[in-house]
Amino acid sequence: MSEWNQEDENIKTRMLSIVDDETIDWMQRKSVPFIRLMSYYKCAMMEIETKFNVLNEEYSLEFDRNPISSIKTRLKNPRSIKEKLERRGLPLTLSSIEENLYDIAGVRVICSFPEDVYALSKALLMQDDITLIEKKDYIKTPKTNGYRSLHLIAAIPIFLAHEKRMMKVEIQLRTIAMDFWASLEHQLRYKKDSEFTPEMAEELYRCANLSAELDRRMEGLLKKTKQNNNVSEHSESMAEMVGSLNG
Ligand code: GTP
Ligand code: MG
Repeated sequence: MSEWNQEDENIKTRMLSIVDDETIDWMQRKSVPFIRLMSYYKCAMMEIETKFNVLNEEYSLEFDRNPISSIKTRLKNPRSIKEKLERRGLPLTLSSIEENLYDIAGVRVICSFPEDVYALSKALLMQDDITLIEKKDYIKTPKTNGYRSLHLIAAIPIFLAHEKRMMKVEIQLRTIAMDFWASLEHQLRYKKDSEFTPEMAEELYRCANLSAELDRRMEGLLKKTKQNNNVSEHSESMAEMVGSLNG
């Protein structure tokens, strides 16, 4: 089952529900700082999600369509965190998690059209409380297997009762077509008890190109609807609007 979901979960309840009664006391002493750190990541994830919901609201009023189809969030589970630190030979400490792992909090924004991916990313990065740490454009330069998405690592402040903390969030922006391909590729590649042959990888790569072609054609249709729409207040594209805000 995918770790990405849209449900709101209470971190403490979730963490404590997966252990038996005997260890709860031990857990309370040992893991409260860990749970607290995870809750900070959750807060950062919520802040980013809200920023995208606000942008979606604004654009849908302006252009009569939603640039965001859906948003999914996921918090990396403790086992994956431990495995990643061990794999990289890094210390298993809270400060090591904060310094070295950039994908504890993940926000995946599924957009309607490729232009929405770039307009939303630009609009987010323009905001003065967001710091861009890393950007990987797998849309302009897809991975060799055909994977496409725009990945951002951003730092965002969360305001607690007595302090302000900067937290890192991994943001993946992709179209519905890119998400369709990535979800099925993930399922196929990690299917238990079955071999993933080079021929299957080639077929998947062809499917990725087909889905990119679909995105191009759909975006072509969107451009035609804009050309056919002579109403002046709707003539500016989303990308242009973000550009003018920037300037
Ligand atoms: P990680 O150590 O896995 O985080 O690698 P990285 O730091 O080089 O990150 P990258 O930006 O390449 O990928 C991070 C995330 O993007 C993954 O955890 C996946 O969610 C997604 N992703 C990257 N490549 C693929 C892919 O080939 N297929 C699918 N389905 N998802 C991918
Ligand atoms: Mg990762």
